[in-house]
Amino acid sequence: MIHVVTAANKHLYERELQAQFRIRHDVYVGERGWKALARADGLERDQFDNDDATYVLSIEGDRVIGGSRLVSTTRPNLLSEDFPHLAAIGGVPCDSAIFEWTRIFVIKERREGRNAGRAAGAVMCGILEFSLAEGIEALSAVMETWWLPRFHDMGWTVKPLGLPELIDGEWTIAAVMPITRRMLETTRAFHNIDAPVLVRRGPEQPAITEVWA
Ligand code: COA
Repeated sequence: MIHVVTAANKHLYERELQAQFRIRHDVYVGERGWKALARADGLERDQFDNDDATYVLSIEGDRVIGGSRLVSTTRPNLLSEDFPHLAAIGGVPCDSAIFEWTRIFVIKERREGRNAGRAAGAVMCGILEFSLAEGIEALSAVMETWWLPRFHDMGWTVKPLGLPELIDGEWTIAAVMPITRRMLETTRAFHNIDAPVLVRRGPEQPAITEVWA
């Protein structure tokens, strides 16, 4: 199942959060070779891993097998701080109903190649279920362009914010993806997921804390 972890309930997930940061280090530094993220403690954490972050963690038994991170675009985020030039046409989103989506991962043995990985699909369904429940209207992301056909196959609408750029040898684009209930249905269907995946434990806090006048 996919667990939602925020500042309000993180005391219930200390072990799983540590596991997530360790796996992220293995995946992003070890496997993907993103050396700038390397840390001596072997835990991959950046300046956006703070109390503004919401994590969705895929937990099986006592094991974290996947996860991802959401941060409101009203807070500092990867696009606004590190890659604003990728949004040169559409502008960097700053809207309480748009959340930036980063750091999706699935442990290696649970990836499923071209068979529409169910573990990765569950993380994405968890993000959509959470977003629909919290009134989040769109996700923004800095992504490699190999994601685009997958989003297309899942029935997502992708609105680019600028032109792709070659970053560290990978074509990379910033985009916004509006969230609809239909999109959750098509994402579930694509991954053969037929029931909700989200679990919420402990105190909850609303994802959207500011309402613009
Ligand atoms: N470069 C290019 N294409 C990639 C890719 C990469 N680094 N990673 C995945 N893909 C594409 C490929 O088309 C792949 O199919 P193939 O292996 O048959 O070529 C397809 O996506 C499925 O990838 P796979 O990893 O087997 O499937 P999955 O759906 O189970 O998991 C991820 C997808 C992204 C969760 C998983 O690949 C992962 O955890 N990767 C490491 C973390 C990462 O790079 N996250 C994205 C950036 S934050």
